[in-house]
Amino acid sequence: MDFHAVCCTLLLLTCTGVCFGQELLLPERINKAVGENVVITPILIPDPPHFLITWKFNERNILSGPPSGIIILPAYRDRVSLDTTTLALELRSLTESDTGTYSLSVETGTGLFHKCGTSLQVFVPASDVTIVPSKTELVEFNSTVSLVCSASGSTLSFIWLNGSSEVTAGERVQLTDSNSSLTITSVIRGDTGPYQCEASNIVSKAMSLPLNLTIYYGPENVTVEAAPVGPIYSSGSTLTLTCSAESSPAAEFQWAVNGAELGEMGQELRLSNIQSSQSGNYTCIAHNKQTLRYSMSEPIDVTVLVGPDNVIINGPSEVEVGKTVMLSCHTESTPTAWYKWMFNGTLTEVNTTVFTVEQANVTHTGNYTCTASNPVTGRKASGSHVLVVKEKGTAGGGGNSLSAGAIAGIVIGVLLAIAGVAGLVFYFVKGKKIPETTSRGNKKNGATRNEGQHELHYADVSHLQSNQRQQGIPAVSMAHANSYVSQYNKTATSNPATQTIYSDVRNL
Ligand SMILES: *[C@@H]1O[C@H](CO)[C@@H](O)[C@H](O)[C@H]1NC(C)=O
Ligand SMILES: *[C@@H]1O[C@H](CO)[C@@H](O)[C@H](O)[C@H]1NC(C)=O
Ligand SMILES: *[C@@H]1O[C@H](CO)[C@@H](O)[C@H](O)[C@H]1NC(C)=O
Ligand SMILES: *[C@@H]1O[C@H](CO)[C@@H](O)[C@H](O)[C@H]1NC(C)=O
Ligand SMILES: *[C@@H]1O[C@H](CO)[C@@H](O)[C@H](O)[C@H]1NC(C)=O
Ligand SMILES: *[C@@H]1O[C@H](CO)[C@@H](O)[C@H](O)[C@H]1NC(C)=O
Ligand SMILES: *[C@@H]1O[C@H](CO)[C@@H](O)[C@H](O)[C@H]1NC(C)=O
Ligand SMILES: *[C@@H]1O[C@H](CO)[C@@H](O)[C@H](O)[C@H]1NC(C)=O
Ligand SMILES: *[C@@H]1O[C@H](CO)[C@@H](O)[C@H](O)[C@H]1NC(C)=O
Ligand SMILES: *[C@@H]1O[C@H](CO)[C@@H](O)[C@H](O)[C@H]1NC(C)=O
Repeated sequence: MDFHAVCCTLLLLTCTGVCFGQELLLPERINKAVGENVVITPILIPDPPHFLITWKFNERNILSGPPSGIIILPAYRDRVSLDTTTLALELRSLTESDTGTYSLSVETGTGLFHKCGTSLQVFVPASDVTIVPSKTELVEFNSTVSLVCSASGSTLSFIWLNGSSEVTAGERVQLTDSNSSLTITSVIRGDTGPYQCEASNIVSKAMSLPLNLTIYYGPENVTVEAAPVGPIYSSGSTLTLTCSAESSPAAEFQWAVNGAELGEMGQELRLSNIQSSQSGNYTCIAHNKQTLRYSMSEPIDVTVLVGPDNVIINGPSEVEVGKTVMLSCHTESTPTAWYKWMFNGTLTEVNTTVFTVEQANVTHTGNYTCTASNPVTGRKASGSHVLVVKEKGTAGGGGNSLSAGAIAGIVIGVLLAIAGVAGLVFYFVKGKKIPETTSRGNKKNGATRNEGQHELHYADVSHLQSNQRQQGIPAVSMAHANSYVSQYNKTATSNPATQTIYSDVRNL
């Protein structure tokens, strides 16, 4: 008795089946929806005769009496009936308030009392299931959204569907309020849904309409493609650069060349009649107005082939012997041209932009030709430059302030003047002394021969120099001149003045 009381007080719904007497047994529990009818049929009843039958709801009578004279309480009169054979109670048009414990007691002829209870739960079916989102437009990685499932119905439980699969709680996904709230933190682009909430209880199930989330993302993976494929284009041709990006909403595009914005918008950049000045690294900058993010493509190289055109050689046209001369070749060419140099029509080994002549001498006088060729197209162009190597003191000096060379020229001039005087002195002295000092050869003709030789040497040297000026005499000729000088030196070792003069000549 004590045990039964405790059981029925604390575990109202589960104490069913705990009955007095072994002969009466009701079903354990019954669930029904509002509006439905229920028939509570005992599983086992005591043998008749039944003197008194009573059905109670939460210890209040519904009906009572002997099988022949059952009295139904007014509150139930319209919707309750009893099967006096099976003792089953029918209850129609259930409402939520019919939820509770129903018990049947039976008194039999022997005066024995049987009692047994069961519980009925009347559920309100799930309905009006809707998802209430905190917002529907979200930014990938930034936004958190919570979806609340609202529904009517009794004792509802909730399930969330993402597409066709059930949402489970995880790092970014929380299910709270008995699963009626779904919170997604730092959404990703795959979280668009559609989401559905299913509310259910034991008697019903209902689904919300699908809800889509809009998740803005990107731009990412910005790429530029060129049509036709580059990177080499002939000048005058037309090409189109097309930019693409992973972005939602679609990105806006801007264009830049070598880092400088072009002021061009749009997914396509059309370059028509391209010129070499348009060569460069083109980049596309994508911008997403919703995520406020920017992303830049890798540069795409556009090289417009040009030239070579306008080959120009910069450098002096006259230079003094002994100076270093640099002739530099310039041309307009993309890609950078390869160079070859010719001298007087003969190919040299020089293939750099600058042709350098160290210590110019007369052999360097001539026609320098620079040939530039475009390594891709193979197109060639040439320019020429005539260089004259002059003896010291005669080159350039047109009105400029005194350069080192000019000063050197003046010094040499003065020296030459002195040399001239010395030469005169020598000439007069020589007439008397040379026959005496010349031991070898014919004494008679020695003076005249020697004299003639000197004059010849001077003439040779000056002739050579003028020749060099005009034609650029080869090294062999100069070697001759040197040998004449050294020959003279042998014959005139005794005269310091002449040595000075000759060494001056050699140094010219
Ligand atoms: C919420 O749903 C999970 C399954 O996703 C389930 O295991 C859990 O029991 C539910 N919680 C409640 C309170 O209904
Ligand atoms: C929804 O499903 C997609 C795959 O269909 C998945 O990428 C995404 O992470 C899911 N989102 C949530 C919140 O479960
Ligand atoms: C939700 O997205 C699905 C595709 O994922 C689409 O078929 C459906 O029309 C969208 N619903 C709404 C209301 O935009
Ligand atoms: C797009 O970019 C993401 C990261 O920015 C990278 O993980 C992914 O591999 C890229 N996809 C492609 C097709 O390049
Ligand atoms: C493009 O960039 C590459 C490497 O950054 C560089 O080598 C190349 O010269 C650039 N091209 C132009 C035309 O500026
Ligand atoms: C996203 O978050 C970053 C850092 O948390 C913030 O700087 C940025 O402004 C946010 N973007 C948007 C569109 O809210
Ligand atoms: C120099 O040489 C080039 C080609 O070899 C020729 O066209 C040009 O006329 C020459 N110039 C002079 C001044 O001789
Ligand atoms: C220039 O000449 C050097 C050797 O003289 C050679 O190694 C180099 O490849 C040449 N360069 C070109 C562009 O012809
Ligand atoms: C080169 O040509 C010039 C005239 O065109 C000539 O004076 C000079 O001697 C020539 N030089 C060589 C080394 O052939
Ligand atoms: C001129 O210079 C070249 C080298 O540049 C050299 O080989 C030659 O011997 C020189 N000729 C004279 C006469 O000095």
